[in-house]
Amino acid sequence: MNTQIEESVSGKPVVQLFDHIEATTTHFDQTNHDYTKAAFRAQALSSIIGPFNNMTNNVAYVLITAVGAVSILGHWGNITVGVIFTFLIYLRNFTGPINNLLDLINTLQLSLVSAQRVFSLIDEPQEKDAPNARPLTHTDGNVQFDHVSFAYDTRPILTDINLTAHSGDVIALVGPTGAGKTTIMNLLTNLYPLQSRRVLLDGIDVTTIRRADLRKLITVVQQESYLFTMSIRDNIRLGRPDADEAAIVAAAKAANAHTFITQLPDGYDTVLSENAHSLSQGQRQLLSIARAFITQAPILVLDEATAAIDSNTETLVQNAMAKLMQDKTSFVIAHRLSTIQAANQILVIDDGRVVESGTHQSLLAQNGFYADLYNSQFETRA
Ligand SMILES: Nc1ncnc2c1ncn2[C@@H]1O[C@H](COP(=O)(O)OP(=O)(O)OP(=O)(O)O)[C@@H](O)[C@H]1O
Ligand SMILES: [Mg+2]
Repeated sequence: MNTQIEESVSGKPVVQLFDHIEATTTHFDQTNHDYTKAAFRAQALSSIIGPFNNMTNNVAYVLITAVGAVSILGHWGNITVGVIFTFLIYLRNFTGPINNLLDLINTLQLSLVSAQRVFSLIDEPQEKDAPNARPLTHTDGNVQFDHVSFAYDTRPILTDINLTAHSGDVIALVGPTGAGKTTIMNLLTNLYPLQSRRVLLDGIDVTTIRRADLRKLITVVQQESYLFTMSIRDNIRLGRPDADEAAIVAAAKAANAHTFITQLPDGYDTVLSENAHSLSQGQRQLLSIARAFITQAPILVLDEATAAIDSNTETLVQNAMAKLMQDKTSFVIAHRLSTIQAANQILVIDDGRVVESGTHQSLLAQNGFYADLYNSQFETRA
């Protein structure tokens, strides 16, 4: 019931827009009804157990008293009134704890259910570094994918990916939805467990580098911007905890976020909540970009970082980015091909393979997959 309430509250706009209010209510009523029935049965059972147990005890009491009385009167054995009396007291002492235990069973079962959930969470495998993982504090930004293949469980996603990038390079990844672009970048940051692959950073296999170090060297602006429940200032500062006010404002200005931030009643002190529902999608992206601008990592990954931003702002942000990228190795994933024309190398990914690669001009000249993609965007816009 709690899960259902949580889902329908957070998915409220979808429920309203798809006219799903009645269905959601019916579904909830059904669950509520099932729960009531189960709770009713549980209550009925547990209220029978107490009296039943009392009755058994009292019957035992009567029996012992009766048998004791008869044996004393009939002079069977050496039994005296004292023995019978002691026995009855022992019986009370014995049944008291049993009654308590029975009362506890309900509580015990509830706790077991909760414990199961807690333990299933605890049992989740932790992200562990290889036993001899090496620290790394500096990189020259040389990235190499060496015949990388990858599968989620058993479903192959990437096949034989090769790429080489050096500091100052901008590598663009383009391709249809679900082609595997985000997955390629997740392998660079070693987000997924080891498989048959080798991703090299300055010639070192990334799976042998301490994750904490590796991720300090790579800044990622993810496809889904995520902002925490804290002030805008602290959200930007997440990129570099020791950044001072001037650096934060400079990053916000470069990301073109400064203007809208200062227009908020509390400015940089505005506390965002619930993943910044009060901001527009594009504003959230600008804050994520500002967060990336403030880090000084030598490798930069932008996964659809400007997809929700209007074209004018995008151009401004890109000019700022171009400066930032000068001495970094940058990977840019984009659907809007106008944004990656200047890349040194464009990799066209389809179905987990690199189907074409080259510069914008050379790919257009090939007149293949990329040219089709480019022309289709051009035509729809014209
Ligand atoms: N956690 C996961 N478990 C299983 N399969 C996944 C997982 N994440 C992604 N996939 C699958 O891997 C494939 C590639 O996904 P990926 O996110 O890399 O695509 P993409 O190229 O980034 O697409 P988009 O342009 O929509 O962002 C998809 O077919 C997807 O269904
Ligand atoms: Mg993606």
